[in-house]
Amino acid sequence: MIVLGIETSCDETAAALVDGQRRILAQALASQFEEHRAYGGVVPEIAARSHVERLDGLIVEAMAQAGLGWHQIDAVAATAGPGLIGGVMVGLVEAKAIAAVAGVPFVAVNHLEGHALTVRLVEDVAFPYLLLLISGGHCQLLVVEGVGRYTRLGGTIDDAAGEAFDKTAKLLGLGHPGGPAVERTAAAGDSKRFRLPRPMVGREGCDFSFSGLKTAVRQTLEGLESPDGATIADLAAGFQAAVADVLADRVAAATAMFRARWPQGDTLVVAGGVAANRLLRTRLTQAAEAGGLRMIAPPPALCTDNAAMIAWAGLERLALGWSDPLDTPARARWPLDDAA
Ligand code: KG4
Ligand code: ZN
Repeated sequence: MIVLGIETSCDETAAALVDGQRRILAQALASQFEEHRAYGGVVPEIAARSHVERLDGLIVEAMAQAGLGWHQIDAVAATAGPGLIGGVMVGLVEAKAIAAVAGVPFVAVNHLEGHALTVRLVEDVAFPYLLLLISGGHCQLLVVEGVGRYTRLGGTIDDAAGEAFDKTAKLLGLGHPGGPAVERTAAAGDSKRFRLPRPMVGREGCDFSFSGLKTAVRQTLEGLESPDGATIADLAAGFQAAVADVLADRVAAATAMFRARWPQGDTLVVAGGVAANRLLRTRLTQAAEAGGLRMIAPPPALCTDNAAMIAWAGLERLALGWSDPLDTPARARWPLDDAA
């Protein structure tokens, strides 16, 4: 079974081919960092146009990499949301067209489910598992009970973790995308020089908050007279350490909840773009192990947005006999846990 996956929900245009033996046969991806850099964030209209211009070429490139013809594809899966609606529509329409012409099933994938299930493309992880999903638009703790079955334990009450990295990077003049820039800069910094707040730490439940932390970075910065590179590095390191403390504390709370209600589970999976951060991976491993869980995160290239995860989620759904009609709409909002 070979599935073509398409991802266009934010600022990466991507196509990939994955098979039922968990082999990534091809991956073609274009990031739009340059197009959005001048604006310090993703501009939806620019993103949508860029997807239109690049997607055809990337699909052809992926097919060539894998050495496959259209008749060798068994299904097409595309992100149908949540995300920037213009971009989602581009990928969705293209996927439907290819599926219709090739006469194969079409699968509408929830982008978040793509992040949630990616780990099963690279490791043997059984349901249920605890999932920390930390990306540019999302920050939540969920229990993954099966494909399409999610229970939300908590989430951010304001900014997502990646959004906090991006806004902090902008404040510090580190550019876009912020996460990798903050991580690089923080490597040379002293995380103890500036003591920043740890919002929600010690609170009951599993919710997050990051906007106060970002404000504290701004206020600290405003109190400094022409900060030099070393000072910026210290501030970046202080911010990253604060995020690590918040995430570790919230994961500890979620781990206790998970172990009590799903005693057969033994794994914490960390997914989403922010899971590429090395300090956070280390801290989250420690937090999980202290609570009796092992921690697994997909390799960084599969944590940030990509199409292999969409193809894989498509394969998981197809294995259960699920596919979607060609009039499936694009959705800007699409929570994983509809009950929450
Ligand atoms: O999952 P993703 O690629 O896109 C969304 O679905 O949002 O996540 C992108 C987010 C951005 O906010 C980016 O700054 C953050 O992930 N990110 C990182 C790192 N790499 C990417 N944050 C912290 N450290 C990193 N190394
Ligand atoms: Zn994502």
